[in-house]
Amino acid sequence: MKIREATAVDIERIGNLHLDAFGKEEGPAVSRLAIDLLADETAQPLLALVAENRTDIVGSIIFSTVEVRGSEEIVAYILAPLAVASAFQQRGVGRALIERGLQMLKDRGTDLVFVLGNPRYYNRFGFTHHHQVSPPHELPYREAWMAMALTGNALDSTSGQVLCARSLNAPEHW
Ligand SMILES: CC(C)(COP(=O)(O)OP(=O)(O)OC[C@H]1O[C@@H](n2cnc3c(N)ncnc32)[C@H](O)[C@@H]1OP(=O)(O)O)[C@@H](O)C(=O)NCCC(=O)NCCS
Repeated sequence: MKIREATAVDIERIGNLHLDAFGKEEGPAVSRLAIDLLADETAQPLLALVAENRTDIVGSIIFSTVEVRGSEEIVAYILAPLAVASAFQQRGVGRALIERGLQMLKDRGTDLVFVLGNPRYYNRFGFTHHHQVSPPHELPYREAWMAMALTGNALDSTSGQVLCARSLNAPEHW
């Protein structure tokens, strides 16, 4: 399996991958989000990676830039969405995409990465809900709103509220 940055020719396959990974109910909205984010200038700078085997794209991850209102000097991204093709789940593809993405963001001088997701999955990478940055929209499950510092003590020294890209800010995604 190879991990590389996504390009314009991957967009349709990335959309289809999200339909498959998230299923009939959630798939269409998440697929649309992934495609919209790739074209959203307010999401820039953005990091989009795909995992591919010999014939197809089997995983995709997107990190888009966010502003932390109240700590504007902080360089921060949000991880969303992440998808692994249903036939390739539970084999470390998600882990490989997350780890590669975090390393690349660290190399680019990123201080913080946010994610809204299942703590059982994301805690293992170092994401925690013990931070002082609010999500863009009020959430019923605070434990699912997590952050991870890639530099020093960014987690302790940052407070405020995340402002994310236009396409991701739509309430249906929160
Ligand atoms: C969630 C997802 C990205 C994980 O990627 P993956 O390549 O299947 O998972 P990995 O091989 O990296 O990790 C497997 C581990 O994650 C756990 N895991 C997988 N999906 C999980 C989920 N939705 N919630 C909690 N834990 C999960 C597995 O139980 C396994 O745990 P173990 O190592 O203790 O046995 C992938 O399964 C997927 O695309 N699912 C459908 C879409 C989705 O729910 N995306 C939301 C991400 S928050």
